[in-house]
Amino acid sequence: MTSDPKHPDKPIVLVGLMGAGKTCIGRRLATHYGLPFTDADEEIAKAAGCSVEDIFELYGEKAFRDGEKRVIGRLLGEGPRVLATGGGAFMDPEIRGRIKENAISVWLRADLEILIERTARRDDRPLLKNGDPRAVLGSLIDERYPVYAGADIVVDSDDVPPEETIAKVRQAIKRYLNAP
Ligand code: S3P
Repeated sequence: MTSDPKHPDKPIVLVGLMGAGKTCIGRRLATHYGLPFTDADEEIAKAAGCSVEDIFELYGEKAFRDGEKRVIGRLLGEGPRVLATGGGAFMDPEIRGRIKENAISVWLRADLEILIERTARRDDRPLLKNGDPRAVLGSLIDERYPVYAGADIVVDSDDVPPEETIAKVRQAIKRYLNAP
């Protein structure tokens, strides 16, 4: 693997559906670049003093989305880092605009079967609590993929070891930075 430790001078923001691998890939990418890693959902939970699941349950999705906007807005102003966002964040026009303006956005695109398999490993995602995950994820793909496609970089998050996906992300970032 070629070395490219020099990191971009702005945040790298990972977007994509639940199960796309944003946290797993993001954490390792940050290590590679020697940058801090932040998971937006974790920060939202920290700010609220309770889990994302509890925020949805106790205060509703709108409260979560408001917190998401505040937290991501703040983090984007805190210098270069790798930031994993929750699957709904890039759907918000204001958040999307801020990301486009201040960061390099990377969509980790995964197909339905992969998302179903990966999301089945956790049971704390509020949007997958009610209803059939295949149906929910399928309709989120229809709704969100055309919007995620507006990210600066698109990388397929296939069923391969994380190192392979990270290598693809690094190469794509390099190409993006060198583009005229
Ligand atoms: C959501 C995805 C979750 C979390 C919240 C809502 C979404 O994050 O932000 O449950 O709207 O897709 P992950 O994508 O990290 O699971």
